[in-house]
Amino acid sequence: MIERLKNRVFLAPMAGVADRAYREIAAEFGAGLVFTEMVSAKGLYYNDKKTEALLTAGDCSCPVSAQIFGHEPEIIAKVISRVKNYGATFADINAGCPTPKIVSNGDGAALMKNPELFGEIVKSAVKNAGCEVSVKIRKGWNDESVNAVEIAKIAEKNGAAMITVHGRTVAQQYSGKADWDIIKKVVEGVNIPVVGNGDIFCADDAVRMIEKTGCAAVMLGRGTLGNPWLIRDTVCALGGEKIPPPASFDEKISLALRHIGLIIKYKGEYVGVREARKHAMWYVKGVRGSSAVKNLLSKAQSFDEMKNILTSL
Ligand SMILES: Cc1cc2nc3c(=O)[nH]c(=O)nc-3n(C[C@H](O)[C@H](O)[C@H](O)COP(=O)(O)O)c2cc1C
Repeated sequence: MIERLKNRVFLAPMAGVADRAYREIAAEFGAGLVFTEMVSAKGLYYNDKKTEALLTAGDCSCPVSAQIFGHEPEIIAKVISRVKNYGATFADINAGCPTPKIVSNGDGAALMKNPELFGEIVKSAVKNAGCEVSVKIRKGWNDESVNAVEIAKIAEKNGAAMITVHGRTVAQQYSGKADWDIIKKVVEGVNIPVVGNGDIFCADDAVRMIEKTGCAAVMLGRGTLGNPWLIRDTVCALGGEKIPPPASFDEKISLALRHIGLIIKYKGEYVGVREARKHAMWYVKGVRGSSAVKNLLSKAQSFDEMKNILTSL
């Protein structure tokens, strides 16, 4: 899997964020691999149109990995081969989502509490996918139940081609600091490539994570919000190239508008504008005068209105 990619800088799966428009922009900024938002195996099984739309890879200029969540090996076995039909090159199993609605259903990070079932899921996914399958996990359930190494070994034994480790427990959600030591322990515990994830907010963080953990690749999530330049900078830093100057104000506004336009292109203006509001706010975060326009952006109804607000800054 990893040998086929142009670099070791990946965009994280992010529900409600890493949609087709976001992934295309991440790819344009140099990501070696991008992940879809998590999609429900059951939704695919029942041919739910919204689930299918989440998977559509579109014109991404780098490979796309389709992330699936579920807890029934036989359903996963039935749907996993379909990810290729939506343009994905790889499939990824979500065993790290901590959202109560997901884990209470036995999905996402709940799989880390059930290693046997997790193993069966990976096995049936690998057997039926018709493409390489990776897995994304967390450090463990809580500080008393840190089992990332055990779970990673099960993933490897059942044929996973790669494993991403987010160095937080489920109990932590997104609080505190990601534990990079656990990433190192997983790297030492398995022979498949390990992707390090958690708290990379500048290119130097990625360099430090690789030095500290020996991970084969890095996955960037929140650091890219309104800042896809982080992907470009990380690719440069890992490739030994000089990091370009930070994005200017004009570049930020111009990319924000292009990004909003892409969201609208794929989702229509009504849904697109509503989903684009948060992205617009992320792009102008920290820009002088941006707090004053946040309220206006949060109520904008059309592309033109968003454009007027952003260009008035
Ligand atoms: C808004 C949001 C949505 C997320 N959705 C998913 C998801 O669908 N699947 C998944 O495996 N992780 C999801 N995550 C977790 C990220 O992939 C990543 O593991 C986490 O944010 C830590 O990386 P970071 O510190 O670089 O943000 C999500 C995170 C955020 C902030």
